Amino acid sequence: MDQKNDKVDLECLGNDEIPRHIAIVMDGNGRWAKKRFLSRTLGHQAGVRMVHKVLERCGQRGVEVVTLFAFSSENWHRPQEEVSALMSLFVSTLEQQTEALHEKGVRLRFIGDRSAFNRKLQSEIVASEQKTRDNTHLTLVIAVNYGGRWDILEATRMIARKVEQGKLSVADLSQETIENQLAFPDLPEPDLFIRTGGEVRISNFLLWQLAYTELYFSDTLWPDFDGNCLDLAIEAYAGRQRRYGRTSVQIAAGAKVPVAL
Ligand code: FPP
Repeated sequence: MDQKNDKVDLECLGNDEIPRHIAIVMDGNGRWAKKRFLSRTLGHQAGVRMVHKVLERCGQRGVEVVTLFAFSSENWHRPQEEVSALMSLFVSTLEQQTEALHEKGVRLRFIGDRSAFNRKLQSEIVASEQKTRDNTHLTLVIAVNYGGRWDILEATRMIARKVEQGKLSVADLSQETIENQLAFPDLPEPDLFIRTGGEVRISNFLLWQLAYTELYFSDTLWPDFDGNCLDLAIEAYAGRQRRYGRTSVQIAAGAKVPVAL
């Protein structure tokens, strides 16, 4: 757990100690608002402001990909008023922030079943993806109406269809076959998963992709999770030894550790 006011010095870290891909569950907007006698909507707005700060710090630290869980497949079960406010917030954020993100070299991508969204939101999503498609400074993946089980189910459907059509044989199926049908087959798997807000669970986020990800849980509510909190998470990551099933002696002897399929 992080101590928000601890000073962190990451200057001494090597490139391989910085996570290439960070996946974040931004939890705690509602509680942040409640503590201030504000509406939950204002809590989510404060959450969006912190997205900018954290992205900026990720860019400075050399993180290549950030994936944010903005709306889960299960979030439709929230009160209708809150769901509507979140949809409006997504639209206004994309309308207002795409240009600024574009200028900073951020590429925007979305994962999840966008067909459930209204036409306005769907077209904002497509427009922001198209506008930023050639940017290379940082990739921001926004998971909306996303669920890890949905992702795996969609991949399974695609594969089953190919088998049905005779394009793929069951004997040839491998882990790679599944990975190639998941949400972002071309991006590195998350190295670091962060969940703010004190809960210690994955909540149906990137279930397959998180298999070897380092997990970091923070008590800090998302609207308070600033650049220093992010640095603390990166520092914790840098102190971990990723073994992928090998022993620490093998790792100390210099064994490189890609996940063997
Ligand atoms: C969880 O906090 C937060 C959400 C379900 C929404 C998160 C969305 C944003 C911060 C907006 C991001 C938008 C873009 C376009 C990147 P909670 O409401 O569950 O908090 P609680 O547990 O304190 O009630």
